[in-house]
Amino acid sequence: MKNLLPNYIVTTFLHNGKRYTQRRIILASVLLLFSGLVYLIYHVTFNIGIWYGNPYVGTWCRYEKVPKFAVKHEPDEITVVTSLFDLGLVKKGNGLLDYHSPFKYKQWVRPFSKLTNPVVVFVEDDETAQYVKKVRSCIPTTHTKIIKVKRKDLWAFSLFRQIKDIYSQSVYPKHYPYTTSAEFSCLTHAKYEFLLNVTQENYFKTPYFAWVDVTAFRKLDESGTGIFKLIPPSKFDREKVGFTQVGPHDPHLDLDFVMMYRAVWVSGSMVLGTNSTIKRFVQVYKKSVESLLDKGLANTDEHIIYAMYTQKMKQPDRVKIHAYRCHQGQLGLMGKDAYYYCLLYLCKYTWENIHGGVASKIGL
Ligand SMILES: *[C@@H]1O[C@H](CO)[C@@H](O)[C@H](O)[C@H]1NC(C)=O
Ligand SMILES: *[C@@H]1O[C@H](CO)[C@@H](O)[C@H](O)[C@H]1NC(C)=O
Repeated sequence: MKNLLPNYIVTTFLHNGKRYTQRRIILASVLLLFSGLVYLIYHVTFNIGIWYGNPYVGTWCRYEKVPKFAVKHEPDEITVVTSLFDLGLVKKGNGLLDYHSPFKYKQWVRPFSKLTNPVVVFVEDDETAQYVKKVRSCIPTTHTKIIKVKRKDLWAFSLFRQIKDIYSQSVYPKHYPYTTSAEFSCLTHAKYEFLLNVTQENYFKTPYFAWVDVTAFRKLDESGTGIFKLIPPSKFDREKVGFTQVGPHDPHLDLDFVMMYRAVWVSGSMVLGTNSTIKRFVQVYKKSVESLLDKGLANTDEHIIYAMYTQKMKQPDRVKIHAYRCHQGQLGLMGKDAYYYCLLYLCKYTWENIHGGVASKIGL
């Protein structure tokens, strides 16, 4: 040790009491600063996900064949509808560093490379379209449709100004990003517009349709997954729209309360229905968004749906909701996942259950 360090350091450390403490303080602060910096870099690159370019997408089909049973048209086939829009850095909470980046969203899309349902993806630009194409490249091309849209042509984004004005009022509660980003809210409303478009066009001629958030499979991106498919839970009621239940629903709540605070009844991560239930649901949804805006109330889709089913907005012909609920640990879902993704994993499980024998052979 003595031979490795310059002489003067050794003498200072060993003999000069005062310099020794000073140096120790400096050393400790440098170390602290350094670890802070390392954490910051780690957080920014891995948790927020600020990277250049696109995430790595593995082409698993080079080593593994897509089994025929997984891509065949089921009698109760679901067209899965989603969208990948670039909203820039999205502030997700009150913390200084609570953000999600476009790169992170792109990472979460990757499990769609193992999803064998027909999928319709709405995007805004060619670069995103190319990325989605790459993600879906192992699934037969007949199972993917990418639709390019412009915000200015969408009903949901025509509400942008009105929503922004509401959020900019100092008295309106700030919940990141639900009541702070008008773009984020518009995109949640666009989900229903996209879903309605697909049920009307029925690009893949399926009896069922589901909206699935592009971020909904994030757990599978982290854990890895085999090939999977979503089909409706057994005994799914064709007269109802399926959601995941997050919390209780109190039909007597005031609209102000529902819209300004975080009252969540069902999760917007997945919506499942038939052409007729979805059509009826979305028609009422759109009307409700607009009438709430006229009352000076805005928020995301989950709040709109809560409000739609209160006494105040009750419609005689509204579609009933079947809210699926999972308890902790059910379907392997823990923590928030159990509250937000129950229906999604139930649909995955339903398919795996049917193909159980074969599925275990391919390591599902
Ligand atoms: C669905 O969206 C596409 C692309 O924007 C559009 O061309 C088509 O007319 C829409 N269909 C319906 C029924 O709205
Ligand atoms: C729903 O689809 C069926 C055929 O699959 C069709 O006969 C019916 O008219 C459609 N209903 C609506 C509301 O589009």
